[in-house]
Amino acid sequence: MASLNDIRSTFLDYFKRNGHQIVASSPLVPRNDPTLMFTNSGMVQFKNLFLGLEHRDYTRATTAQKCVRAGGKHNDLDNVGYTARHHTFFEMLGNFSFGDYFKSEAIPFAWELITRDFGIDKSRLLTTVYHTDDEAFALWKKVGVPEDRIIRIATSDNFWQMGPTGPCGPCTEIFYDHGDHIWGGPPGSADEDGDRFIEIWNVVFMQNEQFADGTMRPLDMQSIDTGMGLERIGALLQGKHDNYDTDLMRALIEASAHAASVDPDGPKNIHHRVIADHLRSCSFLIADGVMPSNEGRGYVLRRIMRRAMRHAHLLGTKDPMMHKLVPALVTQMGQAYPELGRAQALITETLRLEEERFRTTLDRGLKLLEDELAQLPVDAALPGEAAFKLYDTYGFPLDLTQDALREKGRAVDTSGFDAAMDAQKAKARAAWAGSGEAADAAIWFDLADKGGPSEFLGYDTEIAEGQITALVRDGAVQDRAVVGTQLAIIVNQTPFYAESGGQVGDTGMIKTATGVARVNDTKKVAGLFLHMAEVVEGELQPGQGAELIVDHARRADIRANHSATHLLHEALRRALGDHVAQRGSLNAPDRLRFDFSHAKALSAEELAHVEIEVNDFIRQNSPVETRIMTPDAARELGAQALFGEKYGDEVRVVSMGSQAGSGKGMDGQTYSLELCGGTHVRHTGDIGLFVALGDSASSSGVRRIEALTGPSALAYLTSQDRRMQALSQEMNATAAEVLERVRILKDERKRLENEVAQLRRQLAMAGGADQAAPAVDSVNGIAFHAQALGGVTARDLAGLIDDHKARLGSGAVLLIADTGGKAAVAAGVTDDLTGRLSAVDLVRAAVAELGGQGGGGRADFAQGGGKDVANAPAAITAAHNVLKGV
Ligand code: ALA
Repeated sequence: MASLNDIRSTFLDYFKRNGHQIVASSPLVPRNDPTLMFTNSGMVQFKNLFLGLEHRDYTRATTAQKCVRAGGKHNDLDNVGYTARHHTFFEMLGNFSFGDYFKSEAIPFAWELITRDFGIDKSRLLTTVYHTDDEAFALWKKVGVPEDRIIRIATSDNFWQMGPTGPCGPCTEIFYDHGDHIWGGPPGSADEDGDRFIEIWNVVFMQNEQFADGTMRPLDMQSIDTGMGLERIGALLQGKHDNYDTDLMRALIEASAHAASVDPDGPKNIHHRVIADHLRSCSFLIADGVMPSNEGRGYVLRRIMRRAMRHAHLLGTKDPMMHKLVPALVTQMGQAYPELGRAQALITETLRLEEERFRTTLDRGLKLLEDELAQLPVDAALPGEAAFKLYDTYGFPLDLTQDALREKGRAVDTSGFDAAMDAQKAKARAAWAGSGEAADAAIWFDLADKGGPSEFLGYDTEIAEGQITALVRDGAVQDRAVVGTQLAIIVNQTPFYAESGGQVGDTGMIKTATGVARVNDTKKVAGLFLHMAEVVEGELQPGQGAELIVDHARRADIRANHSATHLLHEALRRALGDHVAQRGSLNAPDRLRFDFSHAKALSAEELAHVEIEVNDFIRQNSPVETRIMTPDAARELGAQALFGEKYGDEVRVVSMGSQAGSGKGMDGQTYSLELCGGTHVRHTGDIGLFVALGDSASSSGVRRIEALTGPSALAYLTSQDRRMQALSQEMNATAAEVLERVRILKDERKRLENEVAQLRRQLAMAGGADQAAPAVDSVNGIAFHAQALGGVTARDLAGLIDDHKARLGSGAVLLIADTGGKAAVAAGVTDDLTGRLSAVDLVRAAVAELGGQGGGGRADFAQGGGKDVANAPAAITAAHNVLKGV
């Protein structure tokens, strides 16, 4: 029996033999389509090729595309597991022609593969064509399908459109007849919804483009897009009627049965089926970067996860179970989708944490549900308020409550649920408006209510398409924005990072069919990303699809600086101690700044040590990993949290660097682990180089380090180095010799300065050229030397006082130095006289005459200063008078 893996290979090999390039599945989060939540068919990644906007070096392609259909309006999550063919995740096999072959080759390809390579009995096949498509009709006849098995269909069933806009065209479908023992009629008949005739392949003749205004125009080229569900064709080829009985799904059901120790085929079989399906969608979504959250894609993932987890709970398992099934999934699908194996640890951990968390409220939530139901009349719907409480307090998504009630044949009052949700939003908004934030807050809340929050795609991509949901200028919504307009552009999803956590907002371009805007900054308000922009070409309108392009080089520099900040933080903590905590940071393209608690300046050695350690981890080039977990789980792993910051019920944890046995994380080897919402390099090596520019005081008890990375660090070092080189050339010496000479010169200079000071004092003592003659009087029996001096500095005075005291043996000295028109005064009294006379009194008397104030010191030595050295004679007289008075 061919396995699903064999069938996938047979399909791809067949088209490869026929000149098609095998192209890898694109991610589940579409990069090129603003309107789609998840990739839901094979053609999504080729949309722009069909439209002629993009060209690649092949015109024929074949893929096995992973698809998710869940969420949005047509969410039938409720059915999944209960029916034979509903899935949240499935694989679509397809072949594509981009202006290469058309109908006359696409039809024989499909027929040959199905009837020859897959060996399906021709007599059980029938086909449909769009009612006007005589050409397709004739081609089916030509390959051998009897006319009565080619059915013309006039409805949209045979006109395929990717969405309200985009490439489209008539299609032809192949159906398999499972036999008259199953109820159902052929396509187009009243009983077509039965299970007897199952569509297995859809071949679309892409030839038109549908526009938002309702018009449709022919495309320049004619193309082919086909889709065949692997699960369906697999069931058929394995002789099963139910997709869940195929080998791959069966292996997952058995893994679930094994993990729960519950019979795979017993009465609880339904739970295994739900788990098997949801395990696939959840694991693939996580592998493609979606994380459980309360918004957008993350919320759809959470809903699927929690639905599976409730079914795991219904199997009677006490501990989290979903994560135990990941190895079975990787065994089944890891070869075809290597991303699954690469993300295995992330998938396992994310599933485990979500299930742990959900189980803490699940029992209480189910109890509440029971209590509520017990109070209601039999068959009555659960009131919306109760469903909202389950959502808000116990983390039950609405469809989980619906799923739980389904088993009891009950429903939920969904409009009551919506009303309760609206009331809560209104409350949050009132609280925010009352907080004194910007006056235009109301408009952002209105827009967020109407259009939902902007989804951030920028962890994985720097280019994406989004849809403009609003243009806002001066607090008012605009219906167009022309060249020169400065405005905030809001889109439903964006790769632009909005300023937060010290990381600056992204800049770049936003392009639509009619205009271009330059984004100068990106900010975040009420969950909306505001692209602060200027229209530089044409005009923009709300509702337009837009290409959003982040300035890549700038973002790469920001990323390097942000990751380096994490390494710096950890290096500082290890070098200085656990008291080091982040107090602020800036991650700009040209530099980084990190403020942290630490009482004193870093020594040159400490700074050098930190710089070397950061560079060691850069060269280690280990991968930078991100995970989502509860704040408690993160702290348990040793994450550096920002104290005093408020966290939601989940945090993003960024880890980098590995150090045997002395780190954090589950392996005890992670070097840096931080809660962070910013964007980071993929490997630490991408930082390139780290140079600390120095350490300074930011505020009391807080130091600041500024640093450079990558090209800026290199430019800085080379410019320093060039200056050094120029200098060594000039001095005809190596850099080391230049430094040695500078050191010798510094020592020499210090020696000379001392010598000059010494000489000045000697000169002053000797009575120097322009000095008034040294006079020694005896006043009141005290020898008194008073003198005004030029050519000495204030600093020389103390030494001179000592010299004079030594010369006098017993007496008092007053010296006034002319320091460029101002006066410096010092007085000294020999120790034998300090009982009678204080130097402080002498200085004070002199200072008063010199136009100064105060003056102080001890009885044996005092000093002061004044504005006016011209009054030196009066100052000396004043000192005389002090002596006379003792
Ligand atoms: N794009 C077509 C489909 O999804 C083939 O059915």
